[in-house]
Amino acid sequence: MIPMVDLKEELEILGESIFKALKEVLESGEYILGKKGKELENQIASYVEASYGIGVGNGTDALYLALKALDIGPGDEVITTPFTFFATGEAIAQVGAKPVFVDIEEDTYNINPLKIREKITSNTKAILVVHLYGQAAKMKEIMEIAHKFNLKVVEDACQAIGTEYKGKRVGAIGDIGCFSFFPSKNLGSYGDAGMIVTNDKSLYEKIITLRNHGSKIKYIHSTIGMNSRLDELQAAILLVKFKYLDIFLHKRSELAKRYTMKLNSLLKTPPIIETREHTFHQYCIELDERDQVASFLQKNEIASAIYYPIPLHLQEAFKYLNYQKGDFPVAEKAAIKVLALPIFPFMNFEKQDRIILALQEFMKKNNES
Ligand SMILES: Cc1ncc(COP(=O)(O)O)c(C=O)c1O
Repeated sequence: MIPMVDLKEELEILGESIFKALKEVLESGEYILGKKGKELENQIASYVEASYGIGVGNGTDALYLALKALDIGPGDEVITTPFTFFATGEAIAQVGAKPVFVDIEEDTYNINPLKIREKITSNTKAILVVHLYGQAAKMKEIMEIAHKFNLKVVEDACQAIGTEYKGKRVGAIGDIGCFSFFPSKNLGSYGDAGMIVTNDKSLYEKIITLRNHGSKIKYIHSTIGMNSRLDELQAAILLVKFKYLDIFLHKRSELAKRYTMKLNSLLKTPPIIETREHTFHQYCIELDERDQVASFLQKNEIASAIYYPIPLHLQEAFKYLNYQKGDFPVAEKAAIKVLALPIFPFMNFEKQDRIILALQEFMKKNNES
């Protein structure tokens, strides 16, 4: 079976360095908010060219803490995309604010900046932008709207570490950027971990307090916070893997190019992008016969996945927002048609060719019948 992500080979190659780093942590006696975490915060901040990095428990907490730090809460509205992982909308609801959805663009699957203005009200406080599948959203247009209407911008860059947009790295373009190091992410740990970046010193001060029970000095609590700290073992693993991030992103882009070159005459593929505007956390094709293709691939021992089958406005948890089917036709169409193919840095061309051949075979049979 070719899986969506195979981390075994990566562990074979990086294992020795990872075990050494883990041993160092175990022997140090420092397990939470220690040297490794600080080092990772500095390295990630410097990589995305942000002034501050704050290690947290996971990407969802990163989003929650970002919104909290911006004082977003009950009565406030946050504009976002309905076509994303649930955590994006969940974080808005967790702080007590109202998610307000805006449909996506057909080609990038990201929020459509042309449709944002009509959703801005006097209660709108922020835009929560997602760089879905690793592809940068249209930040120039989004930042212009935000400046004009005095809105904050939080970037959900959980799938997009290393993605670039007009010479900048995503995460450091808006007010606050959020990353997830979930194991399957482009920079993944072996457990939950996340990172927040910002250029704003006062937001940084607020977030380091909020992530640690509202406390900067032990047992003195200035506000109600939470426990969402990056642990040292995860930071140690991430520091080893981070050295290879650019090489791994390059490999993803090479595989994506090959997929597109060999499949774009048969079905809708992402375009070939020569810049780092897309880092291909996911490589998604679009097909009318998506579910038949998925079962055909499964029969040929090839995994595939649907990100995401139900847009947020149609999720049971958001029923109280009173959206209806048909409200966001582009997102709804994508939910029916997208199919993610296996892509990971250690996937060799032989394996990829097996996937391409299977798709070519399906499309040929389908066209004949
Ligand atoms: C777009 C998006 N936002 C938020 C998250 C949440 O990150 P985590 O799983 O680390 O909480 C994820 C990852 O799962 C994601 O893909």
